[in-house]
Amino acid sequence: MHLHAGLLDTTERSDAIERAILNLYRRYTKDSQQRRNWHPDTCVDWSAIRGDHMDAVHTIVEGFFGVEQYTPDYVNPLLNLLRRCYGRSQWHIRWGAEEERHADAWRNAVLALGRRDEGWMDRYTRSLREQSFTLPWESPLHMVFYQVIQERATQVCYQKFAMCVSGRSDRPITHVDDTLTKLGYLIATEEAAHFHFFVEVARLLLYYDPEASIEAFVEVLRNFTMPAREIMPGYTRFGQVLQETGVFGRTTHYRDVVLPVLSALCLPSIRVLDERVEYARQTHDYFGVPDLPALEGKVRNLVERNQSHLKTAGILHLFRSDWQQAWTLTEAL
Ligand SMILES: [Fe+2]
Ligand SMILES: [Fe+2]
Repeated sequence: MHLHAGLLDTTERSDAIERAILNLYRRYTKDSQQRRNWHPDTCVDWSAIRGDHMDAVHTIVEGFFGVEQYTPDYVNPLLNLLRRCYGRSQWHIRWGAEEERHADAWRNAVLALGRRDEGWMDRYTRSLREQSFTLPWESPLHMVFYQVIQERATQVCYQKFAMCVSGRSDRPITHVDDTLTKLGYLIATEEAAHFHFFVEVARLLLYYDPEASIEAFVEVLRNFTMPAREIMPGYTRFGQVLQETGVFGRTTHYRDVVLPVLSALCLPSIRVLDERVEYARQTHDYFGVPDLPALEGKVRNLVERNQSHLKTAGILHLFRSDWQQAWTLTEAL
């Protein structure tokens, strides 16, 4: 048996989380500006897109636009909840800016595919905006775990779509299209970057605030549904086509989303997780739920990468960025 002694009080742990998020945000924005500085109008050769795709491709691309164009709703309510946290609110604005260009890029794709004109697009957008997305949880803690799962699901969805239109899928749904392939991978790469950001934040929360974070994660995992599913006109058909074409469905969600998320967060399989959470609720000891040494190693690694960014920028002396261990692990007698 292990005993865990707290080395930091609640305020110190909360400060450690905030500092690490702010420093991660600075590093993320530097990298995203250098590596992913693209524009929806010039990111691909729109004139080379094919005009003879199967119906499924049109339904999927129109659905991708539909989901992404709710970006103002994804940003606004959560930004209000986060406004007291400098790092998280700054990040949220940047994240929103990257999401809005996904909508612009898919919007270009819908029109470039040749089946819809601008008048149709305006009517479609108006019908989409008749309802607004509301947060599935009014808790910033829950929303981190929601975003971990949602970003991974979106990444996988775009990757699989890109595979389908590149001819590399074992279930080809249409002709090979280099423009759609490039677009799919381009946006998938950005969703992957979002996923990794939220994973880092989730690890910080799990490490420095295990009880509340594990309970929030379990609740989100149990009740997760993709954004806009309840409000988007035509979502049922869109979801059906994703399933039929193998772009996204229940099996993919479990194999390519849930399992990698559990692994990234140093958590066990769902069955073991349920057992450990049940035990933790009885004993009020949540330290045995994640692989704590592995989690601590990843959080420490994050802090060190943040530090080296500040050092390279020549501003390490201006900001506190030291590693702060929260718990000691000792063998009980
Ligand atoms: Fe997106
Ligand atoms: Fe994203």
